[in-house]
Amino acid sequence: MRVLSTRRYPGPAFDELADVEVCSLAELTEPRPDVEGLIVANEPVPLELLPNLRIVANFSVGYDRIDVAACAARGVVVTNTPGVLDAATADLAFALLLAARRRVVEGDRLVRRGDWGSSWADGFVAEEVTGSTLGIVGLGRIGRAVARRAQGFELRVLYTQRTEIATDLAEYRDLDTLLAECDAVTLHVPLTPETRGLLDARRLSLLRDGACLVNTARGEIVDEDALVAELVSGRIRAGLDVFAHEPHVPRALFELENVVLTPHLGSATRQTREAMTRIVVDNLLAVARGEPPVTPVVL
Ligand code: DGY
Repeated sequence: MRVLSTRRYPGPAFDELADVEVCSLAELTEPRPDVEGLIVANEPVPLELLPNLRIVANFSVGYDRIDVAACAARGVVVTNTPGVLDAATADLAFALLLAARRRVVEGDRLVRRGDWGSSWADGFVAEEVTGSTLGIVGLGRIGRAVARRAQGFELRVLYTQRTEIATDLAEYRDLDTLLAECDAVTLHVPLTPETRGLLDARRLSLLRDGACLVNTARGEIVDEDALVAELVSGRIRAGLDVFAHEPHVPRALFELENVVLTPHLGSATRQTREAMTRIVVDNLLAVARGEPPVTPVVL
């Protein structure tokens, strides 16, 4: 099976693909009837140029930029990489929470500017993380991994999602109540029509003064203009790994000390990325053998 891959994905599993061509989507301008498998990283699929495509193996758990319904209508299976990036993403959410709440990056910049000119006992204090209340929006696999880490930090943990579940990890609240009750809120829902703009200006205004918002999910879940306005006002803090129009980051954020910015690093550990490639390749090999894919996206 001839596979087109938008980049060389990391790890040894990639070399198990016998017939693979690396080609960005921008380079794909002519019809390619020879291609039966496509690897993308949550990128739009040019179905019209790939008449004999059988599988889109998505190097990502999120598939919000892939038209899964259009693929299904053409009989093209879409797969993703669930499970293997939960720990890495939860770790990054915690890193952003700690960095934003304890002013770690702000302190690093102060030292590098040569502005640390007085005793440690003078100023530059932050709010405690231990003992504070964390709200998890979406208690799926990644949300639960965050909740488990939160126990180690002796946090009081609340969660919200469409359906309340029985769990020892966190107490349920509706979204508005959770936003108003927490010192920090972290987002772990997928981007869907229901979650796009979930945290709009009204909901952001429910956050407590000084609260910290962490987003390692998708930028579009938050009204970005409203978030920028809240951050510019200095009322809240944030740790942001994702943005509405990546790789564009609103310039107004660049000068702010109350926000920590990272370039979509959620799954960016060597171990996790190699495990994602493993799943991508296993799905392609299964379909090439005429077997069901390992991790299909089910509509
Ligand atoms: C995903 O897999 O959806 C992530 O955003 C990649 O880090």
